[in-house]
Amino acid sequence: MAPEQARGKPVDKRADIWAFGAVLFEMLSGTQPFPGEDTSHTLARVIERDPDWDALPDTLPVTVDVYLRQCLQKAPQDRVRDIGDMRLALAGAFETGMAAAAGPNANSPPPSLWRRGVPWVAAVAVALASAGATNLGLVDDLRGIGEACHTRNVWFHVDGAYGGAALAAPSARGLFDGVELADSFIVDPHKWLLAPFDCCALLYREPARAQAVHAQHADYLDFLDAWGDWNPSDFAIHLTRRARGLPFWFSLATYGTDAYADAVQVTLDLAQAASRRIDAADHLELAHTPSLSVVVFRRLGWDADQYTEWTVRTMKEGTAFVVPSRYQGEPVFRFCFVNPRTTVADIDLIIDALV
Ligand SMILES: Cc1ncc(COP(=O)(O)O)c(C=O)c1O
Repeated sequence: MAPEQARGKPVDKRADIWAFGAVLFEMLSGTQPFPGEDTSHTLARVIERDPDWDALPDTLPVTVDVYLRQCLQKAPQDRVRDIGDMRLALAGAFETGMAAAAGPNANSPPPSLWRRGVPWVAAVAVALASAGATNLGLVDDLRGIGEACHTRNVWFHVDGAYGGAALAAPSARGLFDGVELADSFIVDPHKWLLAPFDCCALLYREPARAQAVHAQHADYLDFLDAWGDWNPSDFAIHLTRRARGLPFWFSLATYGTDAYADAVQVTLDLAQAASRRIDAADHLELAHTPSLSVVVFRRLGWDADQYTEWTVRTMKEGTAFVVPSRYQGEPVFRFCFVNPRTTVADIDLIIDALV
């Protein structure tokens, strides 16, 4: 909720809906999302004004929509008074969202959620799937999760920050079966697509929905909005931004998409070559089957301190940048190949240096 609203000042009307999310949270959970704030006052102020109902997402379950409107009726006699029935009626629709909002301790919703204005979580649930988890490079069952989300009306977000780049390589596409079900998807070209920091591509299935949630309204912006131009600030939370995608766009335009497919394939092959060499080395052991371009392995007989000492030494020498990680609580080394100029000879050098 906007702080201005807490102080009773009129703000963007969507804040009314957010405020109501907070009120509804309190009504359903019996706890206050904002310590020290009397949410009944907030509710009174929201009722006084006409909330912007168009700001509600189309995916809002009908029962929730009906109750939201009943709670905000201007005439007191038309307004929902007893929360008991409502709680029962909404239990199914809200179960997931309330659990997520309440966190492990039901009496204290995580403040960070509320600070980010996510009382929506009470009405809209989100599932996040990894398309290349950072530590091991694993790709979730995107089709399974995506289909489960669609049948439950849950927003399906796919994090391909690192791994999404592998979609460029035909050999890896099968791993991403179901990615087309995503409501939103990100890939960071600054990771495996060789772009300069800090370039994140965020794609929405229905951009209009993202715009309805993120677009900011202010007198000083109306002129630009009326122009009807596509405005990137309408699709994420910050207003001012630089053209982060431009260096990547120029690179794509210069080298073409095939060059990216080739570069990604080279690094996928490097991961396979590294895993074969690790398998063959007596002093090393694969900790997990390699996925995408990540290979995690153990240096047999070493403790965590020895992993750290080796990494510090080789970094100082300028030989390698291979940092220790952990897998199932045990120390491991982790290769993550993103540079197609890495060679098998480089890998051999590192493997020999680990003897
Ligand atoms: C899967 C995944 N998601 C998100 C991030 C965060 O990306 P950044 O640090 O570029 O914001 C990372 C970083 O490695 C990642 O691997």
